[in-house]
Amino acid sequence: MRASPTILPLRLSGVAYDVGGRRLVEGIDLVLSGPGRVIVLGPNGAGKSLFLRLCHGLLSPTQGKVEWLGPGASLKARRHLLVAQRPVMLRRSVLGDIIHALNLAGLGWTARRTAARAALERFGMTALADRPARILSGGEQQRLALARAWALRPEVLFLDEPTANLDPSATRAVEAMIDAFHAEGTKVVMTTHDLGQARRLADEILFMDRGRLIERAPAGAFFEAPHAPAAAAFLRGDLPW
Ligand SMILES: Nc1ncnc2c1ncn2[C@@H]1O[C@H](COP(=O)(O)OP(=O)(O)O)[C@@H](O)[C@H]1O
Ligand SMILES: [Mg+2]
Repeated sequence: MRASPTILPLRLSGVAYDVGGRRLVEGIDLVLSGPGRVIVLGPNGAGKSLFLRLCHGLLSPTQGKVEWLGPGASLKARRHLLVAQRPVMLRRSVLGDIIHALNLAGLGWTARRTAARAALERFGMTALADRPARILSGGEQQRLALARAWALRPEVLFLDEPTANLDPSATRAVEAMIDAFHAEGTKVVMTTHDLGQARRLADEILFMDRGRLIERAPAGAFFEAPHAPAAAAFLRGDLPW
């Protein structure tokens, strides 16, 4: 249970996003709250990554509003994090990378060292502590990005294709980390193109097509019988990508 007041719900109203006069995201109306894991599905180019960045605040909408409505939303601390598809690795050791993130978050000298070591230990990564972050494998880098996020204890975690290009064992390790976030109360909102992974992890599905959010459904209902024809075609693997 979290001691501090929640930042959720997150509300998007009439959100659109243009680049160079081209509308890439359009008409998104959505309220996200509650504990369920949300998986954003849709064909390549549907706008999933833009959607996550708009939710997070890395991008500002051209039209409409993105608002955190919870009582904790006015507090200054960053309580929502985004882990990108290719996470940024610092020119530091694995442990140093996490310590640095905790320093930026305002933790004191001892507290950040303790918390960084605890995060590595939590995910069986202690053996990597002194490696330079930049020479890690893709799977190890993604696990580091998640351990770093973990150390910051976000209330909401946005993940963009966290297992793209990872082998099955790295994928399993990352999925176990996502489970750990969920089990400990972080709301996970993620994209994936891996339908098996979506079935394993999702409580709720958001389906996007051509910049629009065209279906929202509990995961079981979505996989059994999606309403939108584009979603049904996507599940059949019919869409011409
Ligand atoms: N900065 C940008 N400038 C121009 N077009 C962009 C930019 N970012 C994304 N796009 C376009 O917007 C569409 C949606 O992109 P994206 O959100 O990355 O899709 P997805 O993650 O669903 O594959 C794509 O057609 C992409 O080429
Ligand atoms: Mg994407």
